Amino acid sequence: MSVLVTGGAGFIGSHTCVELLNAGYDVAVVDNLYNASEKSLERVKEITGKDLRFYKVDIRDREALSEVFDKEDVEAVIHFAGLKAVGESVHKPLEYYENNIGGTINLCDVMRNHGVKNIIFSSSATVYGDPAFIPITEECPKGTCTNPYGWTKWMLEQILTDLHTADPEWNVVLLRYFNPIGAHKSGLIGEDPKGIPNNLMPYITQVAIGKLERLGVFGNDYDTPDGTGVRDYIHVVDLAVGHVRAVEKLKEKAGVSIYNLGTGNGYSVLDMVKAFEKACGKEIPYEIKPRRAGDIATCYCDATKAKEELHWVAERGLAEMCEDAWRWQSQNPNGYND
Ligand code: NAD
Ligand code: UD1
Repeated sequence: MSVLVTGGAGFIGSHTCVELLNAGYDVAVVDNLYNASEKSLERVKEITGKDLRFYKVDIRDREALSEVFDKEDVEAVIHFAGLKAVGESVHKPLEYYENNIGGTINLCDVMRNHGVKNIIFSSSATVYGDPAFIPITEECPKGTCTNPYGWTKWMLEQILTDLHTADPEWNVVLLRYFNPIGAHKSGLIGEDPKGIPNNLMPYITQVAIGKLERLGVFGNDYDTPDGTGVRDYIHVVDLAVGHVRAVEKLKEKAGVSIYNLGTGNGYSVLDMVKAFEKACGKEIPYEIKPRRAGDIATCYCDATKAKEELHWVAERGLAEMCEDAWRWQSQNPNGYND
């Protein structure tokens, strides 16, 4: 079976390509390299010993994207391509709506024109807003997002659902990721954020490598065991395997399906600092800072539905997530720019 991966050169996309190739799928990647390096795909080939086809194409470019579908015998699309910096989205809403929503509408139109009606979409726990209950199941109502990035995920879930309502031949899997971290065991692929990282784990790894002086902990007065924010961190390889299971789910032609992909465990910011110190053998200096606007206290999932219907569970624990993130960061201090 042939799978087209949009955004396949990125963090989650590159790890998913590895798992798809290992599972015997034929893989083609579309990425405009706005937030990625083609080197990640060279490394995917090195890890798997298998080949894939890469198209440097923007999903908003209808003609170029159509040509890819003309050449490739695509059966399903895993759609990662999009902008993801939460803070930036607040300052550049038009760019975010245009790229994420405009790009996805264009992609779906080109898919439809080529008779491809199977899509797996990268959504986020952010669609739950401040969640109505914890642990979060898929029945938890969608909430109010605090930024345009979150709204693009919220709206794209609706748009893809409407597409299925209009034409039941469409099969849509909406995957709501919790907090992906870690890297492939080989240390060859991992997260390579541009500039100062916004997210916790890449910030910690850059403190450990000496690029940043100290971590700012955003608030220690939340209603959590140690006062710092609690999240459901998931190993990116587990997340990638979840996508392979979702491709298998598409074969059942189940219409629209929604799954949380997380471990079901919540860890605080200080738990993460401690776990990472153990993995890298260094102290991570930190200072308590004010709360970050838009943050919530606690977010972790109930992943029972994915277990029952996708036959998937996250297998890698926190120590492994930290060890693998550290291996990637220490072997590639400048990411793919070495
Ligand atoms: P990433 O930035 O590493 O990957 C996204 C890829 O899409 C990049 O390689 C980028 O170059 C590409 N891209 C962006 N706009 C494009 C366009 N118009 N045409 C073609 N390619 C384009 O991010 P990631 O962490 O791998 O995230 C992948 C997806 O998962 C995104 O949709 C993101 O919003 C979603 N997601 C990520 C997280 C997370 O914590 N990383 C959490 C929830 C959801
Ligand atoms: C954020 C986004 C979410 C997105 C996800 C992955 C918000 C509100 N949510 O999730 O939409 O899908 O990233 O891209 O921005 N923290 C610090 N210091 C730091 C960085 C983070 O203390 O320097 C804390 C945060 O306050 C939070 C935890 O660490 O409690 C995790 O933060 P982060 O990695 O940014 O992820 P989320 O905020 O959960």
